[in-house]
Amino acid sequence: MASNSSLITTSTALFSFIIIYLAVSFNNIAAKHRHSTHSTTTKHHHASNPNPRLQQAYIALQAWKRVIYSDPFNTTSDWTGPSVCSYTGVYCAPYPNKTDVQTVAGIDLNHADIAGYLPDELGLLSDLALIHLNSNRFCGILPQTLSNLTLLFELDLSNNRFVGPFPSVVLSLPSLKFLDLRYNEFEGALPPKLFNLNLDAIFINNNRLMSVIPSNLGLSTASVVVFANNNIGGCIPPSISNFANTMEELLLINTNVSGCLPIEVGFLYKLRVLDVSFNKLVGEIPYSIAGLAHLEQLNIGHNMMSGVVPAGVCELPNLVNFTLSYNYFFEEEGVCGNLTSVGVVSDDRRNCLPERPVQRSKKECDAVIKHPVDCFEHPCGDERVEKRHEMHGR
Ligand SMILES: *[C@@H]1O[C@H](CO)[C@@H](O)[C@H](O)[C@H]1NC(C)=O
Ligand SMILES: *[C@@H]1O[C@H](CO)[C@@H](O)[C@H](O)[C@H]1NC(C)=O
Ligand SMILES: *[C@@H]1O[C@H](CO)[C@@H](O)[C@H](O)[C@H]1NC(C)=O
Ligand SMILES: *[C@@H]1O[C@H](CO)[C@@H](O)[C@H](O)[C@H]1NC(C)=O
Ligand SMILES: *[C@@H]1O[C@H](CO)[C@@H](O)[C@H](O)[C@H]1NC(C)=O
Ligand SMILES: *[C@@H]1O[C@H](CO)[C@@H](O)[C@H](O)[C@H]1NC(C)=O
Repeated sequence: MASNSSLITTSTALFSFIIIYLAVSFNNIAAKHRHSTHSTTTKHHHASNPNPRLQQAYIALQAWKRVIYSDPFNTTSDWTGPSVCSYTGVYCAPYPNKTDVQTVAGIDLNHADIAGYLPDELGLLSDLALIHLNSNRFCGILPQTLSNLTLLFELDLSNNRFVGPFPSVVLSLPSLKFLDLRYNEFEGALPPKLFNLNLDAIFINNNRLMSVIPSNLGLSTASVVVFANNNIGGCIPPSISNFANTMEELLLINTNVSGCLPIEVGFLYKLRVLDVSFNKLVGEIPYSIAGLAHLEQLNIGHNMMSGVVPAGVCELPNLVNFTLSYNYFFEEEGVCGNLTSVGVVSDDRRNCLPERPVQRSKKECDAVIKHPVDCFEHPCGDERVEKRHEMHGR
């Protein structure tokens, strides 16, 4: 559910951006059209002699078309001739500060199911503000020439077949705010610099990336960070609090993170969604989470956490869904034992809660509860916590 809600937020954000963007470009196209009805010669002149930026775009798009090997919906079949602004999926807008010069500002080929790769010539599309290639079959690696796209604001390459190491070229894009690389096959280490970029949203879930969240996270501006289904490993560093002024959704589902949930997670005061399920977290729920007044979705299920579930967390004013199943909690304070009575969806199965149905066996519980992890003594970075957890695992 948490990931769904984040998906919804993203597509809404994307969609509204496209609408705004197109509104701007269509206004301009409309204005041009109005203008050209008064002077057909201008229009004709414009069409037959594209400006140098559109000529470059023509070279780039033709090079791209040559390396498209399958286009089942014929999306690019109208990519012929110099009028690139009329190509399907290609959006033109006035070049910033020069309202009389049109340039290619957006490429949107979402859901076109195209197979092919991205040629070096895409570097010629240097005025692009957005690239949306969601749900295609583009493969290979990203060309280094993309570093020429200094105005690129949104890059959505999700659900394709890109491979290779994390595409470091995206780290050099000065205007980038929205980065979506999820559902590809990028592998290997996450570059620490990713965490220090001026991004609003980072989606890298469902790749083959592995890395440890760097312990010295810089000040981040991201509001949505989704790393789910990668082998991130390591623990969540206290410097996660550097995301406090912006972060609204943190999704680390199935990322092989271990250690305790740091107190500093409770400093992310704008959080609406916190999902760290399907990991190897140990220790107690930090009480600081009871301060997350905007929190709606909390999922800590499928970890090895234990201790008491604090009433303060269950009483959070905006909480709608609290999943803590498949852990080793042995007590629920106050309303935590009956969240349905306050309208909160909850799942506390498979814990060690004596009064509740569908719990673990005494034997299973004792093995963990008799060896409590002291999170204060073993903050993120301390290997003993992981050793402890390995012991519990057996
Ligand atoms: C509550 O959250 C869990 C875990 O994210 C999800 O599986 C479940 O569908 C959610 N329930 C509702 C009613 O939203
Ligand atoms: C695409 O074009 C080919 C050849 O012109 C045609 O056979 C096919 O039906 C077209 N496909 C679609 C989805 O329009
Ligand atoms: C447009 O003008 C503003 C202010 O004059 C400047 O900061 C900006 O860099 C210019 N943008 C481009 C793309 O030239
Ligand atoms: C980068 O963009 C500039 C200007 O738009 C262009 O002249 C140049 O060839 C591009 N470089 C690459 C590597 O594509
Ligand atoms: C998870 O991370 C640990 C190190 O923390 C590593 O030893 C282990 O191989 C990882 N698990 C998987 C499934 O890759
Ligand atoms: C939970 O609260 C509701 C309404 O307050 C009550 O009817 C129900 O018996 C309670 N369930 C448990 C398990 O205490």
